[in-house]
Amino acid sequence: MKILIFLAAALVGSTLADSDKLPFCKICKCHFTNDDEQADVTCTTNIIYNIFDDYYWKINGTNESYAYASINFQNNQFGDLTYIFPQSNLTYLNLANNDINKIADSVFQNLQNMNTLILSYNDLEILHPDAFKGVYQETRLLPLRSLKELRLDHNKLHTLNQDIFEHTTDIEILDLSYNPIVTIDQHTLAAIDSLAYLKELYLQYTEITTLPDNMLHTPKFLEVLDLSGNPISKLPATLQQVHKLTSLYLNNTNFDNLTEENGFPEMPTVKVLHLCRNQYLSHLKKHSLSGLINLEELHMSDNIALSHIDPLAMAMIRNHTGGAIWPPIKKLHINNNKLAYLDSDIIARWDGLTHLDIRANPWTCECENQWLIEDLVPIYLKIDEESAKQVQCAAPIEMERFSFYELYEKKSHMRCLDMYGARPENDAMMLVGILAGVLIAIPMLLFLAFAYQKRWFGFCNPCDKSPAAYSRRFYDKTPHEDF
Ligand SMILES: *[C@@H]1O[C@H](CO)[C@@H](O)[C@H](O)[C@H]1NC(C)=O
Ligand SMILES: *[C@@H]1O[C@H](CO)[C@@H](O)[C@H](O)[C@H]1NC(C)=O
Ligand SMILES: *[C@@H]1O[C@H](CO)[C@@H](O)[C@H](O)[C@H]1NC(C)=O
Repeated sequence: MKILIFLAAALVGSTLADSDKLPFCKICKCHFTNDDEQADVTCTTNIIYNIFDDYYWKINGTNESYAYASINFQNNQFGDLTYIFPQSNLTYLNLANNDINKIADSVFQNLQNMNTLILSYNDLEILHPDAFKGVYQETRLLPLRSLKELRLDHNKLHTLNQDIFEHTTDIEILDLSYNPIVTIDQHTLAAIDSLAYLKELYLQYTEITTLPDNMLHTPKFLEVLDLSGNPISKLPATLQQVHKLTSLYLNNTNFDNLTEENGFPEMPTVKVLHLCRNQYLSHLKKHSLSGLINLEELHMSDNIALSHIDPLAMAMIRNHTGGAIWPPIKKLHINNNKLAYLDSDIIARWDGLTHLDIRANPWTCECENQWLIEDLVPIYLKIDEESAKQVQCAAPIEMERFSFYELYEKKSHMRCLDMYGARPENDAMMLVGILAGVLIAIPMLLFLAFAYQKRWFGFCNPCDKSPAAYSRRFYDKTPHEDF
């Protein structure tokens, strides 16, 4: 009993001690990571107002800061950031959804360990470069030296000051999605291209129709580019200048047919392509994706008009040998399109896939797709049994109720369209036609035979087998034999 009370007291004591130590933990949720007494603070939804007060940040009467590892201040309606954050070693600061319209100069200068700054879902329209001013460092211009990730999505920015990142030159992740940028003007371009170490750039839903020429020449380390949700109908020319791009996202754009001419340029570094929810994309023609010769993941789903993928859409023809090479696809997602047929040649090795999804397409269960049942289903079952069993036939009508899996189990041979594209059950009509033809042909043949016998139309000599004709030929020949 004594021990229990002691334990309980110890527990209460320790929790008290933790929240005692860190003022934010008295009013917010704190989570302590691996006993290092660094707190991850979550102060969301209108809990707190005077966040800049030293009381929260500095240990009483000293200059030492409390050990906050991260602070999440989402949804607090702070409004403008007009004070300077007191010194802290925090590495993560989330100020999303706080009605922030203005950020005063040097607000973050004492957060020199801050790696991630999230300013999403605010009212930012204009950002002054000095907002990100740091403190003096010998070799650099007043840097916010640790900042690597800056999220400015869901604001009202339509342009960026070209010096906006002069104090944050090491940024690797920049998110500008959902800002009404419309065109990337000279200043915005200069700002983005000043980030020499940029690795990920998010420009979703920014209303841009293209990227400026040469934009992607400068960011040498760019790996991820997200252009989804923009009214882009033609691939920006600067895409061929990427150096290290591995992932390209082009969901929900305005492409219609992709062809060899307007398709992807040679981008041998790209391994992941998202091409989903493109409502106008209908045909993927020969060599339209051939430039992505090292593509490993193709996400091409929810394209409501996509009905045709050319067998050579991804294959690249080698100039010197004339042979074709295919990208080493590992993940293929072509679900929820309008595909009725699929050619087995679109990728080189179906058994090399680790992920596959072909569900929710209006598959026609006829002999052109026989390979899907016979060859693909067994492979598909190994990759993803659940998904494999959900693929359904959509045509012809009498096949609609079957799944690919049932047909595979029954070892069904799906029947073929005849050469007029008619359905076999319609062949009865054709048989009647043939019969009518024969019935008309017989009297005609009889008539011709009769006419031939009467030699009405002056039939030619060689086929004339009457005795007179025979003797004519015979006597014609003899003189030659006499010589
Ligand atoms: C705290 O820092 C300020 C300026 O850096 C300095 O003037 C002051 O003496 C320091 N106070 C203590 C208690 O260390
Ligand atoms: C796409 O290609 C198909 C087949 O070649 C053609 O019928 C269609 O008109 C094309 N669509 C557009 C928008 O060019
Ligand atoms: C693209 O769309 C697909 C399917 O709609 C989704 O799974 C994927 O996460 C999207 N990619 C991006 C970068 O938004």
